[in-house]
Amino acid sequence: MIDTLYIAADHAGVDLKNALKAHIEKKIIVYDLGTDSSNSVDYPDYAEKVCQALKQNNSARGVLICGTGIGMSIAANRHRHIRAALCATPEAAKMARLHNDANVLVLGARVLDTAQALAIVDAFLATDFEGGRHAQRVAKFS
Ligand code: RB5
Repeated sequence: MIDTLYIAADHAGVDLKNALKAHIEKKIIVYDLGTDSSNSVDYPDYAEKVCQALKQNNSARGVLICGTGIGMSIAANRHRHIRAALCATPEAAKMARLHNDANVLVLGARVLDTAQALAIVDAFLATDFEGGRHAQRVAKFS
């Protein structure tokens, strides 16, 4: 289990972000990088905040939330040090860690309910990278 998580959302994901943050900070340190209200914002700006934080702390992980999760995924994966996985099930989140060493979990607040999102985050945080044959594949990203 890692000890630090950076989380951010746009206006579509702010309520889910707040719910996840309350859950996760019982276990690990959570840095909330916004947004803080339902006022409309641009999701790339919030993806950027988490990606920059992970550049400084490469043992941490991130969670990004927008309406579908698609915009945040596109924005985050433009960074070479980011492996962002848009997950809709705990099984996908587990595999994203085991096989892809994903360092950012992306969630769609308009396609998941809170219970589903909590289960996905728990799977993401609880699972370590398997390494082995997957390490050579992940290395090919960069
Ligand atoms: C905001 O309306 C919405 O476009 C955004 O949250 C996200 O779903 C983009 O991919």
